[in-house]
Amino acid sequence: MQTHEIARRFTQHFVDAGHTRVPSASLILDDPTLLFVNAGMVQFKPYFLGEAPPPYPRATSIQKCVRTGDIDEVGRTTRHNTFFQMAGNFSFGDYFKAGAIEHAWNLVTSSQDAGGYGFDPDRLWVTVYLDDDEAADLWRRIAGLPDERIQRRSGKDNYWDMGVPGPGGPCSEIYYDRGPEHGRDGGPEADEDRYLEIWNLVFMQDVRGELSPKEGHPPVGELPRKNIDTGLGIERVATLLQGVGNVYETDLVRPVISRAEEFSGRRYGADPVDDVRFRVIADHARSGVMIIGDGVTPGNEGRGYVLRRLLRRIVRSSRLLGVNEPVLQSFAEVVRDEMSPSYPELATDFERISAIVRAEEDAFLQTLTAGSRIFDTAVAATKQAGGAQLAGDKAFQLHDTYGFPIDLTLEMASEAGLAVDEQGFRTLMEEQRTRAKADAKARKTGHGDMGAYRAVLDTAGDTEFLGYTDLTSESRIVGLVVDGVGVPAAGAGTAVEVVLDRTPFYAEGGGQQADAGVIRGDGFTVAVDDVQSPVTGLVVHRGRVTDGEATVDAVVSAEVDTGRRGAVSRSHSATHLVHAGMRKHLGDAAAQAGSLNAPGRLRFDFTSPAGAVPVSVLDEVEDEVNAVLQDDEEVRAFVTTQDEARRIGAMALFGEKYGDQVRVVEIGDYSRELCGGTHVHRSGQLGLVKLLSESSIGSGVRRVEALVGIDAFRYLAREHVLVSQLAEQFKARPEELPERIGGVVERLRLAERELEKVRADAVLSSAGALADGADDVGGVAVVAAAVPEGVSGNDLRALASDVRGRLGARPGVVALFSATDGKVSFVVATTSAARDRGLAAGKLVPAFAPAVGGRGGGKPDLAQGGGSDPSGVPAALDALRRAVAAA
Ligand code: ALA
Repeated sequence: MQTHEIARRFTQHFVDAGHTRVPSASLILDDPTLLFVNAGMVQFKPYFLGEAPPPYPRATSIQKCVRTGDIDEVGRTTRHNTFFQMAGNFSFGDYFKAGAIEHAWNLVTSSQDAGGYGFDPDRLWVTVYLDDDEAADLWRRIAGLPDERIQRRSGKDNYWDMGVPGPGGPCSEIYYDRGPEHGRDGGPEADEDRYLEIWNLVFMQDVRGELSPKEGHPPVGELPRKNIDTGLGIERVATLLQGVGNVYETDLVRPVISRAEEFSGRRYGADPVDDVRFRVIADHARSGVMIIGDGVTPGNEGRGYVLRRLLRRIVRSSRLLGVNEPVLQSFAEVVRDEMSPSYPELATDFERISAIVRAEEDAFLQTLTAGSRIFDTAVAATKQAGGAQLAGDKAFQLHDTYGFPIDLTLEMASEAGLAVDEQGFRTLMEEQRTRAKADAKARKTGHGDMGAYRAVLDTAGDTEFLGYTDLTSESRIVGLVVDGVGVPAAGAGTAVEVVLDRTPFYAEGGGQQADAGVIRGDGFTVAVDDVQSPVTGLVVHRGRVTDGEATVDAVVSAEVDTGRRGAVSRSHSATHLVHAGMRKHLGDAAAQAGSLNAPGRLRFDFTSPAGAVPVSVLDEVEDEVNAVLQDDEEVRAFVTTQDEARRIGAMALFGEKYGDQVRVVEIGDYSRELCGGTHVHRSGQLGLVKLLSESSIGSGVRRVEALVGIDAFRYLAREHVLVSQLAEQFKARPEELPERIGGVVERLRLAERELEKVRADAVLSSAGALADGADDVGGVAVVAAAVPEGVSGNDLRALASDVRGRLGARPGVVALFSATDGKVSFVVATTSAARDRGLAAGKLVPAFAPAVGGRGGGKPDLAQGGGSDPSGVPAALDALRRAVAAA
């Protein structure tokens, strides 16, 4: 059975049983605790926690998931994928254990003709949480399972939570016995390769704190209702129903392996070491494309870094398979073809996706080339020193700085006839891992500080945001936090974080900078200079108590700084217009990759498949945007469903918030975009938009910066003054300036060249005078002199030869120095009679060069060099004379 069909049957089964079908959420949800969505339940978290009323009592979804716990293990075991699809059914206080077990058992065991998966009930096993007699009973009663195929397991296996504070519960898992050829008897407890887990039913009823019940810590509370959260691994079911060895060989994954076989000429299944590489490629290509599909670009931290690692591992694994040409685009095409029936946006958005992978591959290939040079040098040095193995720290440097995996280094070293000190390499890796762990722990403690905010959120609930319409509000203080701790009051001078029941203040987000303003209470004032949302739902005003004492429960007036808000909103609306303009001219591949909306200025980052944006396009976009301002279009914001937003062509960026409701902002007919930010009412309020610059910020991402409103006007006014001054100075009309200045620059260049020639001629013509002034040093004619500044090395050499020629058959030494820009060049020349007396030019250099802070050398007749200390020239001349005298 094809993977798409397995997903379709799941959805059908639960829709028939009264569940609302909910589309997969983006891999990137606005949840600060998660890098990527890692389970079907994530988008429903607020309903489990009781933070929002569930819009339906039961739901079902096929959720895209990414788990990147230990990327290095991917491909070594065959059960895990970084990307997979989790099919789930969810009950929000509706059915509980009995319902979940019955629904799951029916789908798994009903025949394929009847729309089920048709698993043989005699080969199914289940596990339940240690003391969950109720679940064990239900399995006996509903499924008719015998006791020996119901195993009890501890929290480590049979308690599920998100790995962070939040909902959780004991669970029960369904396993399929693949038969004795896959491992030992004894059920899942004995062997999880033979007994493959396909479905996890979580009886979601607890709230876990910082410590997990998985490790035996009790939950910190109960959820408002008893719920069901389940997860069936679509790829695992496909493995079983397609009768293949593992997830990598299923219909949607295997084609990437086939493409890698074509590239490499090697065969999957022929060599266990190569097989790991094939699997890494197949897995990472899928997760990489899916992650880019949801708006992530490669970078050096967070999600971008995970993505970069995935993509680079594909390239490295391909190299290890002997492929040296670019591969990513081709793998991405295979993924697109396999996955787009379920995720059509992969096809419509493919131009952008492929631009990103191509740029990343280019960048990485450059790094690899640089690393190969380091490698070659290290190999040469090792061999020269008579060594037989490459040092561990070299292998580590290649890994750490150039991204060489150890097996690549091993392979390249063996080709070069060297071993590698693997032990030394592993020790350094271990040290680095320990450091990374310590860092992660430190970050986690930072995470613990969220406790104070969570406590406020738990008692007071979400902050109501009024700022789309109001700039002042009467509110109540529901929480005060000082240094990460909740306090009842904060006195004058204290740096404080204030939480209100409702606020007009906009918290930094979506590229829009935070509001500032004041919170005034009876007898106290707090100056607010930053506003953040450290946990979803809560708005935290950061500032200082300027007088009096702020207290929890006080009624206050919250007042946004309207000047700043207006300027930031103008920038935000301008960003939408620039985005729309870029898309119009560059195509849909020009998708937003980041933005900053600050008072008076904006920054807009976007993917650009074709590289730099031509100036003519920038000019057109700018022109068009300003025409929209002049037309004074209405700016409208409204909330609608995701489907409707998509239908009307709203540009969607990163994963939107929970649920299906999205906010759309449109500016006339020109721009329509999902957005939670604040905007002007009419485009005319922007006044003016001036694009300043366009540049690369790496990996196929470009950046434009622009000024908005009065700031744009002032910029142009300043430029105007500059141009007027230049016109005045050059006595030309502004439009004549480029030609006039070009002419002046050209004349200046010619004059400089002329001057240089005159100077050189003067220097060269001084040869006679220099020769005439030769000193006699112990029978040797010595010309040691500093010539004028700025004489080039060539001229200096020509002059020295000329002087030497004029010394004729006499023993003679000529040494000339010239200083230029804080540096000294020198030339020493000897006549053949001098050489006969043992005076070699190259040998004389070390005697005087240190005096000018330099080095040099050469042949017996002519030597040349330089130094960094012009003040040492007289001392160098003396030293030379002494050296000649001593010879
Ligand atoms: N949330 C459960 C899991 O991820 C179903 O396994």
